[in-house]
Amino acid sequence: MAGTGLFAEILDGEVYKYYADGEWKTSSSGKSVAIINPATRKTQYKVQACTQEEVNAVMELAKSAQKSWAKTPLWKRAELLHKAAAILKDNKAPMAESLVKEIAKPAKDSVTEVVRSGDLISYCAEEGVRILGEGKFLLSDSFPGNDRTKYCLTSKIPLGVVLAIPPFNYPVNLAVSKIAPALIAGNSLVLKPPTQGAVSCLHMVHCFHLAGFPKGLISCITGKGSEIGDFLTMHPAVNCISFTGGDTGISISKKAGMIPLQMELGGKDACIVLEDADLDLVASNIIKGGFSYSGQRCTAVKVVLVMESVADEVVEKVKAKVAKLTVGPPEENSDITAVVSESSANFIEGLVMDAKEKGATFCQEYKREGNLIWPLLLDNVRPDMRIAWEEPFGPVVPVLRINSIEEGINHCNASNFGLQGCVFTKDINKAILISDAMETGTVQINSAPARGPDHFPFQGLKDSGIGSQGVTNSINLMTKVKTTVINLPTPSYSMG
Ligand code: G3H
Repeated sequence: MAGTGLFAEILDGEVYKYYADGEWKTSSSGKSVAIINPATRKTQYKVQACTQEEVNAVMELAKSAQKSWAKTPLWKRAELLHKAAAILKDNKAPMAESLVKEIAKPAKDSVTEVVRSGDLISYCAEEGVRILGEGKFLLSDSFPGNDRTKYCLTSKIPLGVVLAIPPFNYPVNLAVSKIAPALIAGNSLVLKPPTQGAVSCLHMVHCFHLAGFPKGLISCITGKGSEIGDFLTMHPAVNCISFTGGDTGISISKKAGMIPLQMELGGKDACIVLEDADLDLVASNIIKGGFSYSGQRCTAVKVVLVMESVADEVVEKVKAKVAKLTVGPPEENSDITAVVSESSANFIEGLVMDAKEKGATFCQEYKREGNLIWPLLLDNVRPDMRIAWEEPFGPVVPVLRINSIEEGINHCNASNFGLQGCVFTKDINKAILISDAMETGTVQINSAPARGPDHFPFQGLKDSGIGSQGVTNSINLMTKVKTTVINLPTPSYSMG
């Protein structure tokens, strides 16, 4: 059970503590932030409302801990990460339980998130050992006008303090996707979890604590974004920000200093369906892509662009599968669970009502109870409807019927977002041409969009973000190249 056994020390009465200087602490603010269970709409947990002074303190600790961590052998950093991964996987139950309670993720998917996170940490440790253990050696005489008098040695060095801000939908997995690369590369790490997802994150941080990382190297600050959000992201001690979330990321990137940023800010992933596609495969991928975790994934299928000639058949097949989706509590592994908050449910409803007023065809009756919204397929959506462009982040999938491939590509490219997209066809040549024409960071051929496996590069174009994720790209983003040049008094050619 969350906050008990191995995890008892992270809880103070009914409020979870924050983590700094290798210890679990209670904030001097004397205040807490309530975490509302999306399904029951009652307070489930409470976390510390940390102060700006506490942020300053963890930043100072992070700066000094990083200096000795950078001198820790790479194999040892990797060893500690492997240890943390094992502890995390051995103790998945309390983390999975808190994911169920604070973000209404179905129970099985919650376990998967924790296991996937342990695997990600281990993979990152191994990849770090490989890519950080190598540098380059350059010779000067390959550039015109130079003799061989200069030997250039390059290696990768840490940036300093990395600030990690994961989103509510993958609080554990998208936290470790930032923490593990930062640590293997020799950085220290300050984590600001989302409010909903904070308790899962605190349990995950305790696994790193139990693994024995040095004091001050990892901190986890909880609290209200309105009080410590800007203070954290504009803090002079921060040398890199890795953020996943909504358009808050755009304002963070405008305010942040001259530091590397890794931002993943959502998408409006298009699913283009051609006449020759395997329509059963299309239907199952629209279901998986559009409705898993109730559509609350940045990589969810958020608009289907289907050729008119096969649209009726696709809609019928998807409708039949929607009818089989279960709706209810996350504890019972329902396919569709409550969306994260009331404001989120209201936003989704606003998009649905706009589509209704403008004449979309409702394939199911619209139904909502509290934060629980029944899965909805909207056919005959037109470009003048908000749902054609905005991301619902809920279990609603719009279908736009198209008459040419160009119409589909143009709709996809007219979006402000450019995260992923997918195309269904049996003609690989057409698929490649469409993939090249789509202005998105990734295009999946014959499958729904997805970030994983977690070592694949993952990036968005336009408002979907900056920088690239995936294990290798994250390690590279969290390092800088350092060169040392050896200058010889006379040219020297080996075997010369
Ligand atoms: O919500 C954003 C996540 O990066 C999506 O990850 O494709 O594994 O669901 P996923």
